[in-house]
Amino acid sequence: MKDAQPQAIYLADYQVPDFLIDKTELLFQLDPEQTRVATTLRMRRNPKSEASDAPLILNGQDMLLEQVTLNGRVLSGDEYSADDQYLTIHQPGDDFVLETVVVINPAANTSLEGLYKSRTMFCTQCEAEGFRKITYYLDRPDVLSEFVTRIEADKSEFPVLLSNGNRIDAGELEQGRHFAVWHDPFRKPAYLFALVAGTLSVVEDTFTTCSGRQVDLKIFVEEKDLDKCDHAMMSLKNSMRWDEEVYGREYDLDIFMIVAVDDFNMGAMENKGLNIFNTSCVLAKPETTTDAGFQRVEGVVAHEYFHNWSGNRVTCRDWFQLSLKEGFTVFRDAEFSADMNSATVKRVEDVSLLRTMQFAEDGGPMAHPVRPPSFIEISNFYTLTIYEKGAEVVRMIHTLLGQKTFRKGSDLYFDRHDGEAATIEDFVAAMEQASGRDLTQFKLWYSQAGTPELHVSDSYDEAAQQYRLVIEQRCPDTPEASAEEKLPMHIPVAIGLLGDAGNLAIHLQGALPDTETPDNTHRVLELTEARQEFVFNQLPEKPVPALLRGFSAPVKLHYDYSRDELMRLMSAEDDGFCRWDAAQQLAVEVIYDAMQAWRDHQEFVVDARLVQAYRSVLSDKSLDKAMVSLMLQLPSEAYLSELADSIDVEAIHFGRREVRRQIAEALKFELSEAYAENNPETVYKASAEQIAQRSLKNVCLSYLLLLDESIGINLAQQQFSQANNMTDTIAALHGLLGADPHKAQDLADQALANFYQRWQQEALVVNQWLMAQAICSLPDGVARVEKLMSHEAFDLKNPNKVRSLIGAFCNNNAINFHIESGEGYRFLADQIITLNKLNPQIAARLVTPLTKWRKYDAARQQLMKNELERIRSTEELSKDVFEVVTKSL
Ligand code: BES
Ligand code: ZN
Repeated sequence: MKDAQPQAIYLADYQVPDFLIDKTELLFQLDPEQTRVATTLRMRRNPKSEASDAPLILNGQDMLLEQVTLNGRVLSGDEYSADDQYLTIHQPGDDFVLETVVVINPAANTSLEGLYKSRTMFCTQCEAEGFRKITYYLDRPDVLSEFVTRIEADKSEFPVLLSNGNRIDAGELEQGRHFAVWHDPFRKPAYLFALVAGTLSVVEDTFTTCSGRQVDLKIFVEEKDLDKCDHAMMSLKNSMRWDEEVYGREYDLDIFMIVAVDDFNMGAMENKGLNIFNTSCVLAKPETTTDAGFQRVEGVVAHEYFHNWSGNRVTCRDWFQLSLKEGFTVFRDAEFSADMNSATVKRVEDVSLLRTMQFAEDGGPMAHPVRPPSFIEISNFYTLTIYEKGAEVVRMIHTLLGQKTFRKGSDLYFDRHDGEAATIEDFVAAMEQASGRDLTQFKLWYSQAGTPELHVSDSYDEAAQQYRLVIEQRCPDTPEASAEEKLPMHIPVAIGLLGDAGNLAIHLQGALPDTETPDNTHRVLELTEARQEFVFNQLPEKPVPALLRGFSAPVKLHYDYSRDELMRLMSAEDDGFCRWDAAQQLAVEVIYDAMQAWRDHQEFVVDARLVQAYRSVLSDKSLDKAMVSLMLQLPSEAYLSELADSIDVEAIHFGRREVRRQIAEALKFELSEAYAENNPETVYKASAEQIAQRSLKNVCLSYLLLLDESIGINLAQQQFSQANNMTDTIAALHGLLGADPHKAQDLADQALANFYQRWQQEALVVNQWLMAQAICSLPDGVARVEKLMSHEAFDLKNPNKVRSLIGAFCNNNAINFHIESGEGYRFLADQIITLNKLNPQIAARLVTPLTKWRKYDAARQQLMKNELERIRSTEELSKDVFEVVTKSL
């Protein structure tokens, strides 16, 4: 049945498993090409299953079956059957011990799923359905089992042998081999299994939990990376303390391990007691890692650690519930990062990601609800919608219930479902019980796809001192349902009312005063109907409404602000997010003017109000520098594209650039001054304060580089040669690469050569070097990238390299990727077709930019569709690529 089309599976078809696995014993005899896995499963029929005589059907792929034994008796060929997906035992009985022996080939496994080799190391990745590439098993998250894992390997090549839980035995074997035995006392689904073997060095620390237990913390890395573990270790300890303080969650095992591997499809994985990390998400030191890199490490370490409760102790019943663990855990790690750093900056970054990338997903052919009703390949559903929108949905519950009640709800959820596989329904039920609120309508957020649009209008009655807001909501068409079929959602809209002298007290008609703020200047409006009116009394003046404070709901909000009103919000509104958002809206309008002028070949002069707003932001020394830096950054090309119905690639690029250039001209002096003021000679620290300073300085630099005179280039060159940290080095490199080639070509070439020479031994730094070139907007981008594909630094089998070069080019270099000739599309399709065989997950992810074809002009649409069709007609198309390509055509 080789060419049968992949089939979708449905949430509605969920059935409890027919069998349970009380205990799982694994024996790995590691060998690069021929690893033998002997598995002993103590099994019984599930009393909750209705099929009392069902055969036992185990998942298994890409393995050679050597033997099947039932209750100690070797089975003959007619007592079981095996194909390329399943092993079926026709009559296993009700209570039995099943033993299988299989042989697998980790060295040939380029999918990076199951057991594979990353450089010299053996490692595993089992989520979502990778365990079935290791042994025959009930590979589904609602089958929880106790694991004992014995690993045998050559001692000199693989001195370190790790698995989940506690090491209970170790010793020597014949022929230079040795073994270790690990026992995990916590029942878990197979997707949380992990094994690592290799030559690894370790950084150790300890953590004393709130109940006084001591936990050993170990980070395993290659010896050359021992000096890059401090930040991850500190982040881990901060996370452990934070989860105790904010969620009352204590760590449970006596040991917590992290291993860094070079070849990894994702950022990191929360395997019980043995997290496996992409090196890019754990290693950090100032010389090699940017500020963004440091913050990523902190966030990912926290995220995987937090899964110990939201994911592991309470896991998912099925993969349709993925957002139960991922959305909730992203919300938790975002709150953690907000507490550790600047809360507003963290919020602005997350909202930017959501509005740029998730909104685009939600408005395109791959749109799906936070709890999808079906999928073909689950790996394709680790999406921005599951993660980021899922986190926003949890945040809205938090907003509706308030911190204290939310905590009551999370306690109830964890306690009630500890050791179980739960559903999103269970999570909401706990929140309902803790609050006494009915969240039935709210749950539409889990089942309706698409970004709701809010249209807000207002009026002020001076005589009555009354202000009215009318809010209408509408959810657009998405692949699974039309707008007409959709129901109004329950949407928390946090607001403030800005008067001449600051935020005004809010007297909402028909409601008690809000107790959240002492001065009663904050209010959460709850939308539940398609159209709703809110009346505010005792208002002495017509306010400017500050809408969606803190971005209280993942919606597109439309209110017709004048540019002057946006300026007022920017300077006087209490909520930092709203101030930033007002700056963005103002900038969007100005860029639209510039785009129109570009299309019409007209003179364009940037609106003096934007310049004035930026000038006052730059000169107001009382402002947080991180905020200043954020406010000065124009909306990205990607965000402008998301806003557009039809994307005009050139107008966006050149219009935006012209606005930037004119701002640089007008604020030359202020920008230079801010650059100088924020360029102190200090010892690098990844502190919020220093990060803010570097960020502001480098934003100034990026403006100054657009000037005709060489002031920017000189600064960049100086910064490039003198920087003591990667944030400044890479900012300078980006600057030189993007500068006018007539003035900077030689400098840029030299800088690239120097940089490579200096850092070629550091894979993660080389990736930044690749990325800097991939996103350079100067002409001939495709040729540049194609040339880099054959550079010694590139490797198609390493996902980080693919993301840095191919991913960055296609997603962050629109002007080159979307070149009219179509060579960008052809290049991408070629790579996808090659990767389809090597690594289907990575191949499928790369398709994303092509799926957006409907948003481009007719000529580009045709070119993009042609490439999608060429991919679709490839032989042996993986399920992963098949699903994305067919759904998007
Ligand atoms: N459980 C995931 C990792 C994963 C996802 C493994 C899909 C296999 C398939 C992990 O908890 C995760 O979500 N990691 C994120 C980073 C996080 C900070 C959002 C990742 O890897 O990108
Ligand atoms: Zn996660």
